[in-house]
Amino acid sequence: MLPTPQRPRIVLVGPPGSGKSTVAAALADRWQLAARDTDTDVETAAGKPIAEIFVDDGEPHFRALERDAVLRALAEHDGVLALGGGAVLHADTQTALASYRADGGVVVFLDVTLAHAAPRVGFNQSRPLLLGNPRAQWQALMEARRPVYEQVATVRVLTDGLRPADVAVLIEQEL
Ligand code: S3P
Repeated sequence: MLPTPQRPRIVLVGPPGSGKSTVAAALADRWQLAARDTDTDVETAAGKPIAEIFVDDGEPHFRALERDAVLRALAEHDGVLALGGGAVLHADTQTALASYRADGGVVVFLDVTLAHAAPRVGFNQSRPLLLGNPRAQWQALMEARRPVYEQVATVRVLTDGLRPADVAVLIEQEL
């Protein structure tokens, strides 16, 4: 475990299926820190699953809830924080991540290829943006977002074929 003064605040970003939640849990376990996930925060705030928020209230409403959840979590959470895959698209989130980095926080882009993301995502109803042709949707989404993930991140780690605990070790080596 890292000695306390060097123990960084970490945010994980990346597309669905990159392993953000499981890697957050592995890092938290490794460093004895708390892990938090903004998807969970949004569901708690809305009182329903994300898929239902999309259906009942639409994506713009989800993005507004997500923005609020991310800004709150960045401000109050010390430890490891996993952001929903599209959270980095909001300009306010990009600004907040810039401040987080300036304050010494580390933003990690969990990169992944479709072949390795697909089994993790399962391409089921829980990810409303990937309905229809999930593989093509995922590719398009990743292509559009890659520059943003790269821009907001301090570190990029390719997670293809790695277990969450192995990704946690790689991240620690990059710090
Ligand atoms: C989304 C990713 C999901 C969730 C929502 C939208 C996206 O989170 O926030 O379905 O826009 O990529 P995960 O990245 O944890 O799957």
